[in-house]
Amino acid sequence: MQVTLIVTLVLHVLSGVFWAGTTFALARTAGNQADLFFRPQMGAAAVAVATGGLLWFLLHDGPQGCKGTSWPSERYAQSSPPVFKAW
Ligand code: HEM
Repeated sequence: MQVTLIVTLVLHVLSGVFWAGTTFALARTAGNQADLFFRPQMGAAAVAVATGGLLWFLLHDGPQGCKGTSWPSERYAQSSPPVFKAW
């Protein structure tokens, strides 16, 4: 399970950063030789979206709870009150 998550996240970040980075670079160079980047970009986009969906499933599947909402959560309701307060 943990290995699946690590591999998925690594593939997601690598392909996502390649996809976004080359998009920014092409935008800044007026699309210079954009056709050479078409296949790598489409491949990276497909991997980023697929692994993004898998991450969503692995990390945020099921009802909203501690993982889905930041505050308040049952985890804190059963233990001592949080040390930090807004007032
Ligand atoms: C349709 C496209 C995408 C989907 C559905 C998607 C979805 C996700 C999901 C569900 C996570 C896990 C969040 C968590 O830790 O709870 C994630 C993490 C991440 N994504 Fe994406 N993502 C997409 C595109 C991208 C792109 C284009 C980039 C890079 C520019 C990117 C960079 C990252 C990074 C760096 C993380 C790790 C953040 C962390 O774990 O805190 N993602 N993404």
